[in-house]
Amino acid sequence: MAAGSHNFALLCALLFAASASVSAAGGCSSDKFSSNRTFAHCLDLPQLNSSLHFTYDSAARSLSIAFVAPPDKPEGWVAWAINPTGGGMRGSQTLIGFHQADGTLAVKTYNISGYGPISEAPIAFDTSDLAAELSGGTMRIFGKLVLPKEMTTTTVEQVWQVGETVANGVPQKHRFDKENLESKGFVDLSNGVIVPSPAPAPAPAANCTSPPAPAPSASGSNKINMTQSTSLALPENLMLEGDLRIPELVNRWVDLECSEMETKSSLFLEIIIEIAHCRP
Ligand SMILES: *[C@@H]1O[C@H](CO)[C@@H](O)[C@H](O)[C@H]1NC(C)=O
Ligand SMILES: *[C@@H]1O[C@H](CO)[C@@H](O)[C@H](O)[C@H]1NC(C)=O
Ligand SMILES: *[C@@H]1O[C@H](CO)[C@@H](O)[C@H](O)[C@H]1NC(C)=O
Ligand SMILES: *[C@@H]1O[C@H](CO)[C@@H](O)[C@H](O)[C@H]1NC(C)=O
Ligand SMILES: *[C@@H]1O[C@H](CO)[C@@H](O)[C@H](O)[C@H]1NC(C)=O
Repeated sequence: MAAGSHNFALLCALLFAASASVSAAGGCSSDKFSSNRTFAHCLDLPQLNSSLHFTYDSAARSLSIAFVAPPDKPEGWVAWAINPTGGGMRGSQTLIGFHQADGTLAVKTYNISGYGPISEAPIAFDTSDLAAELSGGTMRIFGKLVLPKEMTTTTVEQVWQVGETVANGVPQKHRFDKENLESKGFVDLSNGVIVPSPAPAPAPAANCTSPPAPAPSASGSNKINMTQSTSLALPENLMLEGDLRIPELVNRWVDLECSEMETKSSLFLEIIIEIAHCRP
C-alpha cells in the first residue's frame, strides 16, 4: 500500500514535470489566460523565452499587458518595462512580479534609474489591475498602464528581464548573459508589431587616428595608473562584473578615448558595444 502511494506520487511528479516543460516552451501560440483576460496582440519576444500580450486603447491611452516568462527559479522574478527615454534598463518604468514577504505573488512598480539595488517606487504611468500568477515554472504578470499625454508616439522601447532571487523583498541582480543584455527593443503599440530601433543620433566625430599614448606610471613600469585611467573614461558606478574586467578595457584604451564624449554605460558589455565603432 505504501509502495502504491509512492508510485502514485511519482507519477504525479512526472506528469507535473511534463506539463511544466510544455508550458515553459510557451509563447503566443500556447499561452493561456482565464476567460476574461484577452488581448488584441501577442508578440513572441526574441530573448528569455518570453512573450508579451497586449491591447492598446488609443482613445483612453490605456495599455493592458500580460508578460509571460519563466523566471530563472520559481522563487525568482520577472519584469517588463517601458523605457520612455529608450535607454535600455536605465530609465525603465518597470513592473516586477515576485513572491512578497507574506508568500503571495504580486506585481510592484520600479522607476529604475541605474544599475544599483532597486526599490519600489511610483512610475511615470498610472497603473492598475496589477497581478501575477505562477504555474508550470512560468510567471505571468498583468497590468494596465495609462500612457501620459506627453508621450507623443506609441512606438516605445520595451525592456524585459528575469531573475532568480528575491532577498528581503527586493528582486536581486539578474544574470549578465547575452540574452539578459539584449532583452529590449521597440514595439509599435498601435499596430502590435516589433519595429527596429530608431536610428541613433550620429555619434560625435571622434578622432581615433592619433590617440595619446598612456603615460608610464611614476614607478617607471609600463603599467597604466588605474586610478587615473578609470576616472578619465569609465563611469563611476561600473558594476562589479565590469570592475573585474577593467584590465581588458584598459587594453582598449584607444577606443575608450574615442568614446570619451559619449554617455558611458555602467555595464562592461554595453561599453564594449559603445566603443565597437571606434575601430575601422
Ligand atoms: C527556452 O527555450 C529554449 C528553446 O526553446 C529551451 O531549450 C530552453 O530550455 C528554454 N528555457 C527555459 C528557461 O524555459
Ligand atoms: C476577471 O479576472 C479577474 C482576475 O483573474 C477576477 O478577479 C475577476 O473576478 C474576473 N471577472 C469576471 C467577470 O470573470
Ligand atoms: C524616476 O527617477 C528619475 C531619476 O531619479 C526621476 O527624475 C523621475 O522623476 C522619477 N520618476 C517618477 C515617476 O518618480
Ligand atoms: C585628428 O588627429 C589628427 C592627428 O593628430 C589631426 O591632424 C587632426 O586634425 C585631428 N582631427 C580632429 C577633428 O581633431
Ligand atoms: C595615480 O593617479 C592618481 C590620480 O592622478 C594619483 O593620485 C596617484 O598617486 C597615482 N598613482 C600612482 C601609483 O602613480
